Amino acid sequence: ELDAHRNVERGLLRLAIITTAEYFAPRLVGAFCQEYPGIEVRLEIVNRDSMLERLKQNLDDLYIMGQVPEGFPGTAYPFLDNPIVLIAPADHPLTRASAIAPERIGEESFILREEGSGTRMTAENFFRERGIQLRVRMTMSSNEAVKQLVAGGLGLSVLSRNTVAAEVAAGDVAILDVAGFPIRRHWHVVHRRNKRLPAVAERFLSFLLRDRSEPET
Ligand code: PGA
Repeated sequence: ELDAHRNVERGLLRLAIITTAEYFAPRLVGAFCQEYPGIEVRLEIVNRDSMLERLKQNLDDLYIMGQVPEGFPGTAYPFLDNPIVLIAPADHPLTRASAIAPERIGEESFILREEGSGTRMTAENFFRERGIQLRVRMTMSSNEAVKQLVAGGLGLSVLSRNTVAAEVAAGDVAILDVAGFPIRRHWHVVHRRNKRLPAVAERFLSFLLRDRSEPET
């Protein structure tokens, strides 16, 4: 154990996380640093396009993201649940309904994340598979902006539950009980295919995978 720790005593961990992961990933980095106080961390918080570009250019050791795109040039390990929920203004009449049919949701206006967002992709696939075309009233590239507009009564949205915990607890928005929701997804830690990881990144990867129950994808 002592030897194992000595290896990574002074390493630099180069990590990039997708903006949507900023609600939980920094805490995991913090817990890791408690175990390995000598290491240095450089954490980049980026959107999806920048993340794929950074991975292509080999700028970081590890990446944390939700949905892994098709034909992605990396190896992805699921390590944490990422339930995707349907949210509404706290005073919306549907907050009192249970097992709401997805077809009923199709009558509502939506505020969705931008094209290319993994969260948006998950929402669109869910409704497309059921032959429902969502009425998208606004599109925006920030979870914070989406939440504010939902709270303000401008529409419904689909977001990662990690991003709405505070607003749900505060009573600003509510999670609707829609049949098929929450959509079960995972957070993935990713590295470039065949990349030789520095010892500290190796250690962080094992740290994230320590308690996971899902197989590698
Ligand atoms: P995004 O994040 O919606 O911000 O792209 C989640 C994901 O990577 O799937």
